[in-house]
Amino acid sequence: MFQYSLYSLRFSLMTTADIRTAYLEFFKSKGHSIIPGASLVPENDPTVLFTTAGMHPLVPYLMGQAHPMGKRLCDVQLCVRTQDIDEVGDSSHLTCFEMLGNWSLGDYFKKGAIEMSYEFLTSKKWLGINPSMLAVTCFEGDKDAPKDEESAGIWESVGMPRERIGFLPKAKNWWGPAGKTGPCGPDTEMFYWVGAGEPKGNPATHDSEWMEIWNDVFMQYNKQEDGSFVPLAQQNVDTGMGLERVAAVLQGVKSVYETDAFLPMMHAISSAATRLPAGKVPDRGNSAAIPGRDQRIIVDHLKAATFMLADGVRPSNVDQGYVLRRIIRRAIRSARKLGIENISGFCASIAQVVVSQYGNFYEKIKVQQSVILDAFNDEEEAFMKALTEGEKHFQRVAERSTKQISGIDAFHLYDTYGFPIEMTREMANEQGLSIDEDGFSKAFSEHQMLSRAGAEKKFAGGLADHSAETTKLHTATHLLNAALHTVLGNHISQKGSNITAERLRFDFCHGEKMTPEQIKKVEELVNEAIKADAPVSYSVMTVDEAKAQGAIGVFDSKYGEKVKVYTMGTFSKEICGGPHVAKTGMLGTFKIQKEESSSAGVRRIKAVVSGGPAEIEVAAEVS
Ligand code: ALA
Repeated sequence: MFQYSLYSLRFSLMTTADIRTAYLEFFKSKGHSIIPGASLVPENDPTVLFTTAGMHPLVPYLMGQAHPMGKRLCDVQLCVRTQDIDEVGDSSHLTCFEMLGNWSLGDYFKKGAIEMSYEFLTSKKWLGINPSMLAVTCFEGDKDAPKDEESAGIWESVGMPRERIGFLPKAKNWWGPAGKTGPCGPDTEMFYWVGAGEPKGNPATHDSEWMEIWNDVFMQYNKQEDGSFVPLAQQNVDTGMGLERVAAVLQGVKSVYETDAFLPMMHAISSAATRLPAGKVPDRGNSAAIPGRDQRIIVDHLKAATFMLADGVRPSNVDQGYVLRRIIRRAIRSARKLGIENISGFCASIAQVVVSQYGNFYEKIKVQQSVILDAFNDEEEAFMKALTEGEKHFQRVAERSTKQISGIDAFHLYDTYGFPIEMTREMANEQGLSIDEDGFSKAFSEHQMLSRAGAEKKFAGGLADHSAETTKLHTATHLLNAALHTVLGNHISQKGSNITAERLRFDFCHGEKMTPEQIKKVEELVNEAIKADAPVSYSVMTVDEAKAQGAIGVFDSKYGEKVKVYTMGTFSKEICGGPHVAKTGMLGTFKIQKEESSSAGVRRIKAVVSGGPAEIEVAAEVS
């Protein structure tokens, strides 16, 4: 049904996989290096919980650091954004989506970016979208940056009629920074007509009838703590195309859930939902306007959860784990609404379909399938237990409430028993009660404020700031990794790290708790390396060359990628993006504060350095 060959005549439709391939091929043909997508959990950028855009892992390079793969890059990045979670289930919003991205790091700018976008969208050799169905928006200008007539002029020169070009303010046509500070700039967005009849106007005049499919950001500013915008040394381009939306456009369907990649998951849910106890019919959702909303929520959430689990997140009450728990529980709630009463094994059964749909491109979900399915089963069980307790608690609350359940009670059900608010609302309605929604929102935002304040405090600094302290700790992580290999053995592999200005956190595979002697030995080895004041430098090479040199680090490269390999005297050789101090002596003294379990088979070390110089020098490249 979805046969398609890139260079053949187009009698059939492009699949999601075809679009991915075409995108990478197109940008490769325009001199871009294909780089692998990053983990959903940002390494060393603790300003956000999840990777929300393809540019995220590239921040240091947008700020001016040289990327080992050059100045033109492209990739496919799986992203999670939870701010639109209540929108999930309409035709175009997802918490988990794939972003196709291309970047210019100080190479081409507006003209190159717009011309390539237009060619990829409309050329019959590539997506072949009818240009009359497209419109664009540009930045209308304000005190920080001028009206983007330059982009509008380029759009006109490639054939976009003036009436299809809208101008919008910063709230719409400006992107970034991803955290509080960092690279950002005006953007130009591309839209496809989804309204009835012939296309009309542009997104500035007919907002809801145009669907955004691609965004070209002109990253030329660095937003400061004080809110001002300082020009960056280099003019960058950062683009992001929504793969699922483009698939919907090319496949001529009304929603992302009807595209080839989503259909098998939608079908698996429908067939589970038809096994209903007598007298029940599948619930087609609260919102009459959107049939099948619950199926859609389940698909989106369980797909997101599958990828989070593959990237090492486990359900918990904090940070990423909290989001994971919430989306799994929301999915289970939707499943129950569809009459899937015997929930045991349901999430895992849908996750299996996710793995068969996405496992070829995202091998990590295939490799970790059994661990992922077990985690789903454990969380289902935990939720079912909490549900039973929570239902008892709910009953007590309902009995003492006359007309309304208070916001605090609703929040308590959410916070302690993991009840999504939608569930409390429904259970209340069944008993003729309502919920004090304002009270709930207040309690909720107070809680969020608390956890955000906590997160900000915890994450003050972050590697993104490249301060002396984080650079020192980042360097210390390499020495720690090397020392762990020496003391525990070469089975050690890094599972993640997170660095703030105050401490480093390092997760690694190892089956047992470390003994006090082992911890002491590791500390000694790191401090010896510091005392030796060894020079630190890097060179750029292919992954195979790095391997041949005995470097440690992450080797899963699909594309013959080039990487930076940092050498620290004779102590450490490791693949890494940097930055690092120029000599190990700048680290002062290294101390392990804690060694604990992070998850099954994974240990976590927290460590600090102290007493080094306030001013540091950064390691440079050697050829
Ligand atoms: N970073 C830009 C976005 O996410 C491309 O829209």
